Formats: sequence, structure tokens, C-alpha cells
Amino acid sequence: MTCQTYSLFVLSVIMICFGRFGNSSILAQLENDIDQLKADFNSSNSDVADGGPIFVDKLTNWTERNEKRIILSQIVSMYLEMLEKTDKSKAHIRHISEELYTLKNSLPDGLKKMKDLMDLTKLQMSDLKIQRKAANELFSVLQKLEPSAPLKKKRSQFQKKCKC
Ligand SMILES: *[C@@H]1O[C@H](CO)[C@@H](O)[C@H](O)[C@H]1NC(C)=O
Ligand SMILES: *[C@@H]1O[C@H](CO)[C@@H](O)[C@H](O)[C@H]1NC(C)=O
Ligand SMILES: *[C@@H]1O[C@H](CO)[C@@H](O)[C@H](O)[C@H]1NC(C)=O
Repeated sequence: MTCQTYSLFVLSVIMICFGRFGNSSILAQLENDIDQLKADFNSSNSDVADGGPIFVDKLTNWTERNEKRIILSQIVSMYLEMLEKTDKSKAHIRHISEELYTLKNSLPDGLKKMKDLMDLTKLQMSDLKIQRKAANELFSVLQKLEPSAPLKKKRSQFQKKCKC
């Protein structure tokens, strides 16, 4: 995965987050900064489109606000990691980093939930001790699902109908 591929999508992520900011002057200013970032990374090279987008596609099915915060917090962290290795004496890099840090700070529970998910992927389900714990917790896990599951289904059907 090339750096160029990444930077093309900074704009999209910011635009999605911008829905929460409601401040068009910040976005307008960032758009110029992002154009300069794209130039830094040669994002107009023809290979940028190869293999499709890396982030934007993944966001389409994350519709609920709390869900979206989880994946956005991860994506914003990835952009910050990428910018960490760039020349921070450039004004546009500093502006973009500052906005992304602000965003990241507004998504703290998203980061925590992301970490929970990462921790789960590390559990060794073939481990007998883990299996004992898992069996022991199964009833409680299902109990936690019960009251909210039917509600969630209703809401997503509603969203499909009214496309909101
Ligand atoms: C929008 O951004 C501008 C420039 O950063 C700032 O002066 C203004 O206070 C912001 N407005 C809101 C509503 O946040
Ligand atoms: C962008 O392209 C120029 C000219 O081909 C090259 O010198 C530079 O290293 C490239 N930058 C990146 C980040 O790929
Ligand atoms: C989004 O969800 C729909 C329906 O479940 C699925 O067909 C589609 O492939 C999903 N899109 C992505 C990008 O995951």
C-alpha cells in the first residue's frame, strides 16, 4: 500500500467528520491544505485508483453515529501516524495534524471501543482455560444482547426505508 493511496482519502474522512463540526470555514481552509498534501504525496499519479479506495468503501455500512465513531477514531489515528513521518515544518501539514488531533480527542470512546475489539481478536479460543471462561460467560453475554437486539433491528429497517 503506497503513501499516495492514503492521502487521497484524507479529504473524504475530514468531510465525513465535518458533519459533526458544522463549520464550513474550517473545511474550506483544510481543503487547500489537503490539496498541498496530495501534491506532496503525488496523489494524482495514475496508480492511486488501483485496487479501489482503502477507507471510503469501508465507511459506507457504518451508519449509526456511535458505530461511525469507532471506525473513524481508528482511521484518524492512521492518518496521524502517516503525518508523523512527514515534514512538520510545512504549514499545511501542521494544520491538518491539528485538526485531526482535535477530531481524535473528540472520539475518545471510539478509541476505547476499537481497543476492545482488538483485544478480542487476540483471545486464543483454542485454549482450554479460555474455553472454560467463555462457556461460563455465554449466558451473561446472551442476556446482554437480549433487550437491545430487537430494537436495533427495527431501527435499521427504518433507516433503509427512509434512507437517512
Ligand atoms: C468556525 O471556524 C472559524 C475559524 O477557525 C472560527 O473563527 C469560528 O469561531 C468557528 N465557528 C464555530 C461555530 O465553531
Ligand atoms: C513525487 O514525485 C516526485 C517526482 O517524480 C519524486 O521526486 C518524489 O519522491 C515523489 N514523492 C513521493 C512522496 O512519492
Ligand atoms: C454493505 O452492506 C451491504 C448489505 O449488507 C452489502 O451488500 C455490501 O457489500 C456492503 N458494502 C461494503 C462496502 O461492505
